[in-house]
Amino acid sequence: MSANIKANTLTPSDILARKGGDPLVCLTAYTTPMARLVDAHCDVVLVGDSVGMVLHGLPSTLGVTMEMMVMHGAAVARGVSRALMVVDMPFGSYEESPEQAFRNAARLMRQTGCAAVKLEGGVAMADTIAYLAARSIPVMAHIGLTPQAINTLGGYKVQGRGDDAARILSDARAVAEAGAFAVVLEKVPESLANQITADLPIPTIGIGASADCDGQILVVDDMLGLFAAFKPKFVKRFAELEGDADAAIADYAKQVRARSFPGPEHVFGDQAPEGTT
Ligand code: KIV
Repeated sequence: MSANIKANTLTPSDILARKGGDPLVCLTAYTTPMARLVDAHCDVVLVGDSVGMVLHGLPSTLGVTMEMMVMHGAAVARGVSRALMVVDMPFGSYEESPEQAFRNAARLMRQTGCAAVKLEGGVAMADTIAYLAARSIPVMAHIGLTPQAINTLGGYKVQGRGDDAARILSDARAVAEAGAFAVVLEKVPESLANQITADLPIPTIGIGASADCDGQILVVDDMLGLFAAFKPKFVKRFAELEGDADAAIADYAKQVRARSFPGPEHVFGDQAPEGTT
């Protein structure tokens, strides 16, 4: 699989140029068919490491590997033609050193065709973001609740309440100064998200943050009601597809047991119909 730049595809610079403009519409995707659906309506398609929980049944994103991100990234690339495709760097693939981050980010770009990577962390990751940005790797940062850090954050809690707001504001400034082209703000108070959006020269993309961020992102399976294991407060279900799928599978099982499926229209005679071979 090689990097594949298509005409009319949004670039990291296009996304950066949308600061303060029309809201950026972003969703995750992990497969080719879902990527096609998302690409038709969104500016950014993120191959999130949420794939580990959503499609692989892992308890957190910590078990996600580079191999998983490469496989799902390559699948998504086959369905994206207009949106900017961003691939998440999984836990353990970038934190050790800027050199390790470069090696793995370059692999993700080479083997999936993505035009940018996302990584979690603020002040602590600023040197790494600067190192990647200086070496032709566009970086989307992710601060606030960073799910790869649940063991040090003590769970999936709101970040930046009260005195802790200064820490998140420093993270936001650090990733912007380091050269990130956009930053995901996850699960921070609305007023802090608004302050960061007003303060930064790069777009903020909210998830559990504020409607006044420069864009919004959700996990596609969450907003479609396909991932029903739990529903964070910030998720709005725009459909309830798990219920529809359950009803359809139950109907199929009933019809197979009753021998009413397949019907005459689904089986073949021993003579080819006229006009066919
Ligand atoms: O992994 C993911 O899907 C994400 C988004 C929720 C921002 O990081």
